[in-house]
Amino acid sequence: MKIAMVGSGYVGLVSGACFADFGHDVVCIDKDPAKIESLNAGVMPIFEPGLAELVATNVRGGRLSFTTDLAEGIAGAGAIFIAVGTPSRRGDGHADLSFVHAVAAEVAANLKTPAVVVTKSTVPVGTGDEVERIIAEANPAVRFAVASNPEFLREGAAITDFKRPDRIVIGTDDEWARSVMTEVYRPLFLNRAPLLFTSRRSSELIKYAANAFLAVKITFINEMADLCEKVGADVQDVARGIGMDGRIGSKFLHAGPGYGGSCFPKDTLALLKTAEDYDAPTRIVEAVVKVNESRKRAMGRKVIDALGGLDAARGKKVALLGLTFKPNTDDMRDSPSIAIARTLTDAGVEVAAYDPEGMELARSLMPEVTMTKGPYEAVDGADAVVIVTEWDAFRALDLERVKTLAKTPVLVDLRNIYDPAEVRGRGFAYSSIGRV
Ligand code: UGA
Repeated sequence: MKIAMVGSGYVGLVSGACFADFGHDVVCIDKDPAKIESLNAGVMPIFEPGLAELVATNVRGGRLSFTTDLAEGIAGAGAIFIAVGTPSRRGDGHADLSFVHAVAAEVAANLKTPAVVVTKSTVPVGTGDEVERIIAEANPAVRFAVASNPEFLREGAAITDFKRPDRIVIGTDDEWARSVMTEVYRPLFLNRAPLLFTSRRSSELIKYAANAFLAVKITFINEMADLCEKVGADVQDVARGIGMDGRIGSKFLHAGPGYGGSCFPKDTLALLKTAEDYDAPTRIVEAVVKVNESRKRAMGRKVIDALGGLDAARGKKVALLGLTFKPNTDDMRDSPSIAIARTLTDAGVEVAAYDPEGMELARSLMPEVTMTKGPYEAVDGADAVVIVTEWDAFRALDLERVKTLAKTPVLVDLRNIYDPAEVRGRGFAYSSIGRV
């Protein structure tokens, strides 16, 4: 089947490349000529493990192409995916749907053959109705249906998540749309990936509910971690102990500096707005958003404590290892590192940082921070070393070298990747999350 993917950002590009890898004929469309030009030259606009190779293979196989021309890109496509951004609207936290609506209007103006228009962008409940209205009004003659098909891809693991999904959610009441979407996902269906058909509105809400629930889970274990520190318990044991209960599950129970990224912060806010609009407030999610926000600065204060308090911290130097909101991405959006760096520099602390992929974007977000060539350059002369993001490269640091380079052997491990006894045994003052 020919598939058009409108929007060649993170979701569009990964989904488009994976669909092509399944044998579909995929055209990825984007308004940004520079992005299309670089994609045509084989240069990826984002860092995602395995993506460049997947794109190259499928371009070579003639199944994947890129264009800025929407009319040409959607011509003859059986499914047209809308995969453009839905950022938080400035000021009120609602999802900004202007890009989705603009694509719907452009698709409507150019649609000549029957197609299922699929919203893959994360969109609030009712957006599918609006997309349907826009197309029906502008192009009443053409046969089309609008379906919702949210994505559940994690940055850094997006290709595996796409190819081995826990489930594929498809929201539509239209029989024809159902059969087209079944065809689109047939290769995964054969791998026994469960296809869940729901109404369009349920599907739209599933996406927000899933992200909000995961954010709740993370925030819950983060608060348990704080309690563990007070009562002398170990949060990793607590997480293991509750996670072995099949009703709770062990995933997303890693305590840390708070969630960040392009999805949880924006989607939890948008869910709050929808809930407010429909007069069905979601108090738990409200609390999660607040707790997570204040946690990021609290992590900065934790580092200041490790330096001996506010007075002692002034003029000292801290090395931040890891800046992205999680490993294997260059994404800096809402990363806890931003609030941590700011809290430190506000307190007169000098900050040096290293990240394997995020420094280019980080430079503009934290101009007061010195970016270094490698982890050991950041550690050089530091009064404390802080692990902010659990990149593999930081899991087996040469601790003897760290000790020699640092001014004082203080390690603050915000991701619990080191064993406290071992690190202390090597002469470090060590603090982590929810472990004493
Ligand atoms: C998230 C969801 O996991 C995906 O299912 C969803 O498709 C995606 O959002 C989206 O809506 O597009 P992502 O933002 O890439 O994916 O990253 P996650 O792996 O979920 O991590 C989010 C944040 O939570 C990170 O800052 C991470 O460090 C933090 N986290 C995650 C924890 O602190 N503890 C955990 O146990 C898990």
